[in-house]
Amino acid sequence: MRVEAGLTSVLSGWPPPVLDAGGPFAQPVALLAWALLIGGAVVLIVVLAALAVALWGKPSLRRRLGGDRAIWLGGVAFPGVMLTALLIWGLRLTDDLQATGPRAGEMRVRITGEMWWWRVAYLDDAGRTVIRDANELHVPVGQSVLLELDSADVIHSFWIPNLAGKMDMIPGRTNLLRIQADKPGTYGGQCAEYCGGPHALMGFAVVAHPPETFARWQASRRAPPAPKTQPGAELFRSSGCAACHTIAGTEANGLAGPDLSHVGSRRTLGAGILPNNRGTLMGWIADSQSLKPGNRMPNYKQLSPEELATLATYMESLK
Ligand code: CUA
Repeated sequence: MRVEAGLTSVLSGWPPPVLDAGGPFAQPVALLAWALLIGGAVVLIVVLAALAVALWGKPSLRRRLGGDRAIWLGGVAFPGVMLTALLIWGLRLTDDLQATGPRAGEMRVRITGEMWWWRVAYLDDAGRTVIRDANELHVPVGQSVLLELDSADVIHSFWIPNLAGKMDMIPGRTNLLRIQADKPGTYGGQCAEYCGGPHALMGFAVVAHPPETFARWQASRRAPPAPKTQPGAELFRSSGCAACHTIAGTEANGLAGPDLSHVGSRRTLGAGILPNNRGTLMGWIADSQSLKPGNRMPNYKQLSPEELATLATYMESLK
């Protein structure tokens, strides 16, 4: 799947991402999806051919089509065998892909579904949070990553179709999912369980880096944040943004909304729905309710264009 202009879409392009495995945990799912697609197409062609025979075929052929033998074979035996085989295939696949606890040295990330965005916490071996982020996950290529999925409110479903099957996020419970990207790139994802309001606008991006770039990314996130003493920081405080958002190294430590410590380096805004740039930052702050109706951030229409620009400059500086 392509992430074009910051907009993640799991629907565009060919092949669709569920048929285009980008790693070992998506491969068996893609194989099953191809089998369903091709098998379904063959069944459709056979049914249409039978319909043509029934309408316009020679009387002898039509008699055979309507005979007991054809009905028992095509209407009972074939679907019975095929559906049973698919059931067994699906159950075994579910079993095979069931992730258990972390493997030695494996990267662990906790992702929490929120109405309508994703809280991301990179964990150390002891399960302590070392990096906080939102709506975007950075991984090294060729390595499996264990995701610990839960929810803060209602049931969401985490789905990066290129990298793994989908997994529900259920309040009060942790579901494990392994992903692995074999090629560098950005893979789009989408909440796959209706969770009210702007459910359809709850996107996600996985950015897979070559090992060296990933190490650099990780180091930059772990380094103590640079002091942020620009005019934007003061406006951020006085406008009340800090009640909901955290910016590491500042007094802003709100937890209701996404962590903004590195918002300037994110691909998207509003959980995968807009490219992240100056214009969209200003538009989002002023009128996020038009861009993502029902989301939990109020509009800040009282800010002047100059103030919006000041805040956007500040957001852009948070790399
Ligand atoms: Cu979250 Cu649908």
